[in-house]
Amino acid sequence: MKTQVAIIGGGPSGLLLGQLLHRRGIDTVVLERKTKAHVLSRIRAGVLERGLAALMREAGVAERMDREAIRHDGALIAYGEDSFRLDFTQRAGHSVLVYGQTEITRDLYDAREAAGAPLEFEVEDVEIHGADTDAPSVRYSVNGQPRQIDCDFVAGCDGFHGVSRKTIPDHLRREYEKVYPFGWLGILSETPPVHDELIYASTDRGFALCSMRNPNLSRYYIQCSLYDNPEDWTDKAFWEELKLRLPRRFADSLVTGPSIEKSIAPLRSFVTEPMRWGRLFLCGDAAHIVPPTGAKGLNTAASDVHYLYHGLRDFYENNSTEGIDRYSEKALRRVWKAERFSWWFSALMHRFPGQNMFDTKMQIAELDFLRSNAAAQSAMAENYVGLPY
Ligand code: APR
Ligand code: PHB
Repeated sequence: MKTQVAIIGGGPSGLLLGQLLHRRGIDTVVLERKTKAHVLSRIRAGVLERGLAALMREAGVAERMDREAIRHDGALIAYGEDSFRLDFTQRAGHSVLVYGQTEITRDLYDAREAAGAPLEFEVEDVEIHGADTDAPSVRYSVNGQPRQIDCDFVAGCDGFHGVSRKTIPDHLRREYEKVYPFGWLGILSETPPVHDELIYASTDRGFALCSMRNPNLSRYYIQCSLYDNPEDWTDKAFWEELKLRLPRRFADSLVTGPSIEKSIAPLRSFVTEPMRWGRLFLCGDAAHIVPPTGAKGLNTAASDVHYLYHGLRDFYENNSTEGIDRYSEKALRRVWKAERFSWWFSALMHRFPGQNMFDTKMQIAELDFLRSNAAAQSAMAENYVGLPY
């Protein structure tokens, strides 16, 4: 088989890139290791920056997003019984959309299938060959049958555990990592959200987040130990702990119910450099991970897709390699800013094992400063709604 761009990974990065290129008449094949049902069962954050919303529109897949997403103009930052509203539109001139990543992925699968563009599930043993030549290829197997795609470029959109990053030789790759000493226990419940905006709460018992998917579907998280198992947490224990971490007025009005999903996610900051090797380009989680505080994962993947899409268009439409030559540098500049914001917001809001009273006082002083300082709020809001591409 031959194509112009072989895309490894059928998560949001690979699908969005594929759809954008398809609209410009650039051929792609998407290879996904898992089944579609498996990809669509993964629950991830649900806050979209305007850059991602604009890309969805440009890809022609925004109809449901524009109908169902909830616009959020602010979020509540709580610490103990104190709180303040971070007004995104007032402080940064933009809002965000609340719309689950799973829905983004579903809309992209529907569009790809409607367009009849090639998409293979349950591919195994994917290998990238000749990335440092002018004629790369991807070898893989389906049901034990070997296959090969010859292509101009390979987009490595296969997430943190994919093969693309590891294809770049060790001596050409630098990795930067920070692992946090706690996790997030998250639940989904068919209950009305406790508030009409998100609540990020910091307390002596640890962090909590109240988020939502729609008016009858709530997503809540609490900071937990890395040694906890989701099965050890009954729904009752979760709700009790969440209430203890929210200002009283929210704890009192919280509607609880059975969880329909419960899982623990570790927190990690990770970046690999460069994001290109010859004709292989890394995109999204394949190149970087952020802790979920601030919901930058999907949005940072989207900015990579933006730079790569424009680079590839420049190549095919204007015969210029400028965009792809500068891809890694441009993408990384924005990646590191999202890494900084997620790291800062995580450090501000969580209680770290072994932290002393001085550390806690510093967190509270910073939150007090944020509460009373317009410039500090603007800096935070600009990062939250998303830095420009
Ligand atoms: N071959 C083919 N597909 C693969 C391979 C492989 N060797 N390895 C992994 N994959 C697939 C995974 O099964 C997954 O569906 O690549 C896909 C990568 O998707 P994501 O992990 O969702 O990464 P990405 O598309 O970059 O999306 C970034 O997802 O993890 C969140 O926080 C992250 O929200 C961000 C977004
Ligand atoms: C979510 O809705 O799952 C979510 C929202 C905001 C975050 C992280 C996760 O910062």
